[in-house]
Amino acid sequence: MEKINYENYKMYKQAQIVTHLKKIAITWISWPSAKCILAVSKRAYEIAGIETNTSIICLGSRNGMEPYYFELLGASRALGLDICPTVGLIPNMYSHDFHEVKPEIAGKYGLAYSNSYDHCYSLEKFIKATTTWLHDDSIIILDWSPEDHTSPSGIADCLGIGSNELNEVVEKETGFKLLIELEAWKFISDRIGHYKGLLHKFYCSPSLSYKLNSNSFSMRQKVIDSLKEASDNAMKQLLESNQQVLIEEIEKRYSYNMSFFDQGKAFVLEDVMADINLER
Ligand SMILES: C[S@@+](CC[C@H](N)C(=O)[O-])C[C@H]1O[C@@H](n2cnc3c(N)ncnc32)[C@H](O)[C@@H]1O
Repeated sequence: MEKINYENYKMYKQAQIVTHLKKIAITWISWPSAKCILAVSKRAYEIAGIETNTSIICLGSRNGMEPYYFELLGASRALGLDICPTVGLIPNMYSHDFHEVKPEIAGKYGLAYSNSYDHCYSLEKFIKATTTWLHDDSIIILDWSPEDHTSPSGIADCLGIGSNELNEVVEKETGFKLLIELEAWKFISDRIGHYKGLLHKFYCSPSLSYKLNSNSFSMRQKVIDSLKEASDNAMKQLLESNQQVLIEEIEKRYSYNMSFFDQGKAFVLEDVMADINLER
């Protein structure tokens, strides 16, 4: 694991907020990824023989499109957390540092998703806090790509970690075990640099792992094949659907979210700047 160390917490927060505001228009997650993540998680619950739980908390969700994609594609509930105070203006978003537990929403979600853990000052603290949002039978999904997650790459992307080491940290700190790592949809990973080699890594809670393994369906290879099939089916369904309608919905919501940002920016920025003592 490689890290950029900050002088203090204020410097860390400042780096995150400034970068967040600069990149507010960019959405990293793609909706095919959200579709695949939901389909595979649902299949895992089916195999375990327990009620499907697609309520999802997303950690580090910038402009709010991330929880929106999950909601649009079938999650029962979706919330995004982000350290930047401006996100409080955007639907489905809540301003909170994802290293810190928050008892009000503890234990309320079945799934947790993040592609932003490379912004952690402590991966161990982040991953432990992540488990507190979740039910006993739950899944953590971390996206990992060689280009984005292997080494620190800027003032805000302060942590780099290899794929295997990430699995080790998650298991050591939380007891959640790697269930499967799926290559992202080729259409995305072939074309765009950041997504090259992108893996969706699914980690199961100890209780869900036990149920998956003690089931008659328990042969590991059978489970893996079934999860891959769920992902392939989801992509097929997406390709066969009227994507134009989906794209229009997404564009509408994007303008809506950005309008909250534009409205709030001026006065919230004043506060943010004052709060973090940023030189302008
Ligand atoms: C790479 S961007 C995420 C993009 C988003 N997940 C997406 O797919 O569009 C990282 C986000 O994490 C947020 N972030 C950084 N540190 C954080 C922290 N400690 N707690 C919560 N959010 C944080 C940043 O403000 C930024 O919006």
